[in-house]
Amino acid sequence: MDNVVSVNSNGHLSIGGADTVALAQKYGTPLYVMDENAIRANCRALKTSLDAHYKQNGLVLYASKAFCCKAIYRIINDEGLGADVVSGGELYTALAAGFPAEKIYFHGNNKTAAELAMAVEKNVGHIVVDNIGELELLSGIAKANGKTANVLFRIKPGIDAHTHNFIMTGQIDSKFGFALETGEAMQAFDAALALPAIHVAGIHCHIGSQIFDIDPFCKAAEVMLDFAEAVRKKHGYTVEQLNLGGGFGIRYTSADDPKALESYMEAVSKVVYSKCAALDFPVPYICIEPGRSIVGDAGLTLYTVGGVKTIPNHRTYVSVDGGMTDNPRYILYQSAYEAIIANKADKPKDFVATIAGRCCESGDLIQENAPIQTPEAGDILAVLSTGAYNYSMASNYNRVPRLPVVMVNNGLDTLAVRRESYEDLIRNDV
Ligand code: LLP
Repeated sequence: MDNVVSVNSNGHLSIGGADTVALAQKYGTPLYVMDENAIRANCRALKTSLDAHYKQNGLVLYASKAFCCKAIYRIINDEGLGADVVSGGELYTALAAGFPAEKIYFHGNNKTAAELAMAVEKNVGHIVVDNIGELELLSGIAKANGKTANVLFRIKPGIDAHTHNFIMTGQIDSKFGFALETGEAMQAFDAALALPAIHVAGIHCHIGSQIFDIDPFCKAAEVMLDFAEAVRKKHGYTVEQLNLGGGFGIRYTSADDPKALESYMEAVSKVVYSKCAALDFPVPYICIEPGRSIVGDAGLTLYTVGGVKTIPNHRTYVSVDGGMTDNPRYILYQSAYEAIIANKADKPKDFVATIAGRCCESGDLIQENAPIQTPEAGDILAVLSTGAYNYSMASNYNRVPRLPVVMVNNGLDTLAVRRESYEDLIRNDV
């Protein structure tokens, strides 16, 4: 078991000092639970390491697509992080939580004019521009508002990051950003440096997500600095910021072996410093953008077991009161998760189950071949490490209301997001 959950004296699974069976009783299931201290510890580890390796000249940005609600923006603001948002909705949530606009980086491959106008009006610190059309649109909006937009360009460094195809983003055949090979990235600078309402602060890349190898990150840093040097040569313009993206892999099950944060930070910073020395280039302000590695291992989902259906010579389906609507990651990426029966957490895992959801969809599975304790109807089943890309990717398919999120902190629980009601479901129906 990881260091976020443990087994308490009742033999129950506990998270952040709170008994998950008691939480399930108090709030009902299905339910997301997040350990606030674990989130804060992840923030601190990242910030401390970045500050140490880049001489306090950088910023950790939380990629809020991993888990977005007002409570998380308050926590990361408290911890001194910036935030990456990718939509008007995330931006709105961040601002509603009192997150400082100047510490926000606005991403996305197809921001609308309304979203760009909102970002300019609200004085968002940086906008990460994806394409020339967007650059021109933004320039017009900034000019009309009498402002200068600080931009970074999203660059595709041409790196294959060895992860699931759906979450790989740094290669040339990607919808995100400017390609280097085609000259497109340089054309962005050619255009932007002539635009009065645009200040180019730097360049950004993100090579993918759930990456375990350090090497692709090092290569990306090198390629980006080579490009920065090419820009300096051509335009006499020195980029101030280098944003290296997120994507650090986390341990979902014992089969995952993520590298320690320190080894990533040490290896990449070494590349940055030696490359800058070789090019005689001033070391830029360095940003990283982790999402999953801040919230992923800090959360779990609690379900109540309903039907247990054994099909001889095939498998046993253990149906729970949630499914792909609260965790679409198995159906999308075949993601592995560890499951535990929370009220039998001290018992051996002597059963192999297919954990099924309740949607009218055969593929609605949370996990197959999952070792768990012998299940019975009424048990509380916990799926671990669901803090990232679960709540944020949840849907209302089959008109299933979305789950609440409870934050626990040293044994105390508070509601961060209320459970959706049936009334909420029809609120926008006319
Ligand atoms: N920065 C940018 C520009 C990104 O596109 C992403 C993730 C991140 C940072 C944060 O990556 P992280 O550190 O969380 O890996 N839904 C998928 C993940 C999609 C990631 C999209 N971009 C999943 O559930 O695995």
